[in-house]
Parts: sequence; C-alpha cells; structure tokens
Amino acid sequence: MKESFSADAVKKSLAGIPEIKKIYYKKILDSTNLLAKELALEGAPSGTLVIADEQSKGRGRKKRSWFSPPRSGLWFSLILQPEEVHDYSLLTTAAGVAAAKAIKKACDMEVKLRWPNDLILNGKKCGGILVESRLSGTKPKFFIAGMGINVNIEKKNFPSQLKSAATSLLIESRKRISRTSLLEEIIKELFASLKKQSNEVIKEAKEFSEIMGKKVKITSGREIIEGVAENLSSSGSIIIKTESGDMKEILTCDRIKIVKELRGNAPSPGGQRYSIKSSHHRGEGIQ
Ligand code: BTN
Repeated sequence: MKESFSADAVKKSLAGIPEIKKIYYKKILDSTNLLAKELALEGAPSGTLVIADEQSKGRGRKKRSWFSPPRSGLWFSLILQPEEVHDYSLLTTAAGVAAAKAIKKACDMEVKLRWPNDLILNGKKCGGILVESRLSGTKPKFFIAGMGINVNIEKKNFPSQLKSAATSLLIESRKRISRTSLLEEIIKELFASLKKQSNEVIKEAKEFSEIMGKKVKITSGREIIEGVAENLSSSGSIIIKTESGDMKEILTCDRIKIVKELRGNAPSPGGQRYSIKSSHHRGEGIQ
C-alpha cells in the first residue's frame, strides 16, 4: 500500500495535539533545523514544527552530514521556547526517551538509546537527535529539537560508508511503517516527556540505555576515556567508572563505542565530576 505522507496527512494527524501551533511541511529542504532556526529568529512560537520529505543538507552532531533521502524517513525539527522546557539540560535525553517509546508503540520495536543522542536498533543506528539553541547572553532564547529517523530506507539505498553502522525500521522489521502515524506518536511522547520531572526522564533514559553497565570507550577530541557506564547524572551526563575506580562525569563526546559486555554489573550512583567537554544541554549552539 502506498504511504500517504503529505502536508494534509501530517496536519490532519497532528491536529489533536494542542502544543503544535503551526506546521511547515516541505517536499525538500536543505535542513529542517535551518528553516526552524530562521522561523524562530522571526518570532515563530513554541510548537512550530518543520518537516521535510527530503533534506539536501541534513545535519548531524559535530557538523557531520545526515543522510536524508526522499519518501523514506522522518526528518523534522520542533521550535521550543524556554518556558516549554522543564529542564534544558535534559532536552536531548527527553527527546530520545520519546522516540524510543513512540517506536515501541507504533512499530513494536525495542529502540535503545546510545548516549548522548543515538537511536539504536539491533546495535545499529536508526536515528539521531540534534538539539540546537540560541542564547542571549547565558540565557536560552529558543531551542530547536531536530530528529531524524530512518523509517523505510532499504539496505541497498544506504551509501556504502553507512551500510555497516546504519539501519532502518524497515530493515529490522521487514515491515513498511507509516511515517505519519509514527510522527504523531513521537510528537505526543515528546510533549509528555518535556512535562516530566527530571528524575523520571533520567529513570526512563536508563531503562532504554544501550550502554548502562557496559564497558565503553569514549572519545572527545584527543581525549579517550575507557570504563563502565555506571549512571546518568541529573543533567543527563554519563558517569563512567574507570579501571582505577575513579568516577568521571562526561558531558558530551565525539564517539562512544561499547568495548565489552559485562554481566551482572549493576550501576551504582556516580561520584566525582570530571568534564571532558562542556555544554549546558549537550546540544549545539546556533550561530
Ligand atoms: C545525529 O545523530 O548526529 C543527529 C542527527 C539529526 C538529524 C535530524 S534530521 C532533521 C533535523 N534536521 C537536520 O538537519 N538534522 C536533524
């Protein structure tokens, strides 16, 4: 059956979500985060949603590009004003929890969260979150919560350099999924997550985590830290227990890799703070 993913279908399915104020649906855009930023600068309210069927310059974290072909993914960005965001530092975490819950509901698949912003299915990346903010001094003026989900991308259509690390909901389930219904679920879950208390968001993020209790190697610039992922802090940073027994708090990273699975290694609350990179919400600033 042909999927109806169109401005009309999307607007109809999101019509019952009161937090959504305006929807911009485009066949093709450079990046939904970029249009959302322009709109936010022109004063667009919280709840403005930008969706594209295809992105020509989809952006990932750390200035990486994001593969966003037509007719097969969910590429969208939501403008949020600071009043709407209960805890800025947990915006990426809350969005990850929302995506994992929505994918479970809409597709009955168990997505894991690979800190800080990856959505993982069977060990491969099926989506990612890019939260950007504009500051006025030290105060946030607005946030752009961008999300990309590889929904109906066939394996043969991924570029060769992504084939081993990326996947899609279609590849893992062998089922075509309605992007309209999935988007509706994600947006509902996202607003629900944004209203939750921080400790509830952290608890859920730990439940969905791919890395808790596992040995990981974290790279940030030239720094490499290896240890067991012990906990998530109240601001969504990861607490790593190194081989020497030190507890290190890591705010963000370039790459994270699971080194070895440990069994029966229950996480314990973390201790000493140690930042290898500073970011107030683990998102990226908008120039
Ligand atoms: C990452 O994993 O590095 C984050 C990927 C985020 C991709 C989404 S797709 C919609 C929105 N627009 C963009 O240009 N990027 C985000």
